Amino acid sequence: MIRRKPIIAGNWKMNNTMEEAEKLVAHLLGLIEKRDREVVICPSFVCLSRTAELLKDHDVALGAQNMHYEDNGAFTGEVSPLFLKEVGVTYVILGHSERRHIFGEKDDLINKKVKATLKHDMNPIVCVGETLEERESNVTFEIIKNQVYGSLAGLEKEKMGKLVIAYEPVWAIGTGKTATKEDANEVIGYIRKLLAEKFGKEAGDKTRILYGGSVKPANIKELMDMEEIDGALVGGASLKAVEFSEIANYDI
Ligand code: G3P
Repeated sequence: MIRRKPIIAGNWKMNNTMEEAEKLVAHLLGLIEKRDREVVICPSFVCLSRTAELLKDHDVALGAQNMHYEDNGAFTGEVSPLFLKEVGVTYVILGHSERRHIFGEKDDLINKKVKATLKHDMNPIVCVGETLEERESNVTFEIIKNQVYGSLAGLEKEKMGKLVIAYEPVWAIGTGKTATKEDANEVIGYIRKLLAEKFGKEAGDKTRILYGGSVKPANIKELMDMEEIDGALVGGASLKAVEFSEIANYDI
């Protein structure tokens, strides 16, 4: 069995004022145990810089929740990869279902962002996932294939090492409904197969693929016990220091 280093990432979404962020990070840093895995937290853009200061000298990485693909220019309201690099961001969530469904992001835009993230030597966490309607219409695998191939089109094989994918079924996000561990494992195994077909066996074997959707302390272990699942992208539970630390400290 191939071992890939697990990643537990917390996506705060549009939550936490600066004061709340400071309290949460301070509390969390006292609870996270050093184990053989990467822990990432992804605050709002506004809190990135302060969070970076608090994480200094700690083994927790900083992630952003989105990014524009150009370095600079007339893009009102957008955030450049250069800004993220400057504050110490190493992971960038891209194509989250909320970006896809609320803000209309499509695979070709996500693809440009993925390439820009890699160009600037950061790790993209590319999110894919089907809606409930799509799952019930039995088109999950087709949807996943289109999203994976669309968002990763034209990627150079040499850059694949930094790529992280998160499978987040839309119907499991913030609903309390987790995909069964078998369903999550099956779709993630399928994504791995798609990567191998398109980018070679090594890409399939080495790319870390996370599960996201109502992950909590009670289900992290069973998810992480599955062969294909390399970690979790956590929303709601990442806003509570005790819960997130219990997820990050799960026992192997
Ligand atoms: O990106 C994380 C995510 O969308 C899952 O959210 O609240 O279901 O853990 P949640």
